[in-house]
Amino acid sequence: MINVKVPLGVNVLDEIRVTGGKPLRGRVSVQGSKNAALPMMAASLLHRGVSVLRGCPKIADVYCMEEILEGLGAVTWWEGRDLYLDCAKADRTVISEENTGKMRSSVILLGAMLGRNGKGFMGYPGGCVIGKRPIDLHIYALKKLGASVTDRGNFISASCGKLTGAEISFAKSSVGATEQGILGAVLAEGETVLSHCACEPEIVWLCRYLRGMGAKITGDGSRNIRITGVGELTGGDMKVPADRIAAGTYLCAAAATRGKIIIENPPEGELDAFLEVYRKIGGQYEGKSGKLIADGSGVRFPVPFLETEEYPGFPTDLQSPLMAVLATIPGESHIRENIFEDRFKLAGELNKMGAFITASGRDAWIRGASSLSGCQVAAEELRGGAALILAALAARGNTSIKGASFIRRGYEHICEDFAALGGIIEDTGTTSYENIQIQEKNKAD
Ligand code: UD1
Repeated sequence: MINVKVPLGVNVLDEIRVTGGKPLRGRVSVQGSKNAALPMMAASLLHRGVSVLRGCPKIADVYCMEEILEGLGAVTWWEGRDLYLDCAKADRTVISEENTGKMRSSVILLGAMLGRNGKGFMGYPGGCVIGKRPIDLHIYALKKLGASVTDRGNFISASCGKLTGAEISFAKSSVGATEQGILGAVLAEGETVLSHCACEPEIVWLCRYLRGMGAKITGDGSRNIRITGVGELTGGDMKVPADRIAAGTYLCAAAATRGKIIIENPPEGELDAFLEVYRKIGGQYEGKSGKLIADGSGVRFPVPFLETEEYPGFPTDLQSPLMAVLATIPGESHIRENIFEDRFKLAGELNKMGAFITASGRDAWIRGASSLSGCQVAAEELRGGAALILAALAARGNTSIKGASFIRRGYEHICEDFAALGGIIEDTGTTSYENIQIQEKNKAD
């Protein structure tokens, strides 16, 4: 008998179908943040007991991290929307290439494994579709903390006696490498000073989670973070914050369709650079009683120049959703992508729908169409895939988006949410979504 294992969230009918042309209207809540939840899961490995992530998003990347932690010996289960991780016996130190290849952020488990057991051996992290994505800064941070690390191209092995506090000065701002340094330093002996750190909100959320576990960290959210190592950590227990990228994606959907939506639980103060651009293109927004009311009906102005930057600049993860909006605005916009080298893959797909986008190196010039037309397009990665849904919701007629599994990696129920906002949208992978629910239930039982 041939046993075919279908990865969670992947369905042979890997397609999203949209009939566009209707402005989105209504209220929506955003999921817990993917990029906050994954490092919190990795941090849970530093406690030999139970930790809980409340309101954790049920997305393929979280399931993948859960599977990796189980492979290390953790016991995990869901109670409603809360993810429990019992890492009492998670003392294995090998993560297969099959698992690490599915997800870039698996690499931050190296610092956690070193902090816990002094060794880690893992396959090379995946996720190369938006650029080269090297891991030199991760390795640099761990070496500074006293680990001996060997990068053999397809696997990495690392070991240490006990990690020791150090001065770590990053040559470039990296979210993942900053997280790696933090995870390595919290149980290291003595004091660590990390400089030129990434300031993204997810770093702050990780540090809050770790402080709740007893870690001694100051300075997170600034370029310099100071950590005093402690002997052990207690269990983590925190609510996963709202996903700023999912919130931005939904705001872009309102803009692309010239709709009006209310986000019930907007991430506070994390979307300023994006909202500034939202206003420039003709969108309006207002914060009221903790909610964000966004009106995209007046969206009509192209953006002469916009570049992605590290936080608090315009986030690279919202560059593709914004490009989909600009594809609906006649006139020329110009985007420069400074973070990843290969993040304009969707341009060709948007052109099939009637936009006129030319991309060269890190620049893209977008001439939008007064009306996009539905057709068959393909997602090649997560944010670009979500952007194609936005274009499809704005377009006249029917669009079929292949490669929906890329989108499910990071969005918990994007199709259901857009349908609730009046979009005509169907995820043909719904059957697999139901299967996930059944698998989860079985796990809980
Ligand atoms: C994280 C986010 C991702 C977001 C990105 C930038 C997660 C799970 N993912 O990815 O959604 O788009 O931040 O905000 O949180 N670099 C190196 N050497 C390294 C590491 C990175 O040169 O060792 C470079 C990268 O190629 C890139 C830049 O640094 O050009 C920023 O990457 P980084 O901040 O590390 O992104 P990720 O942590 O992978």
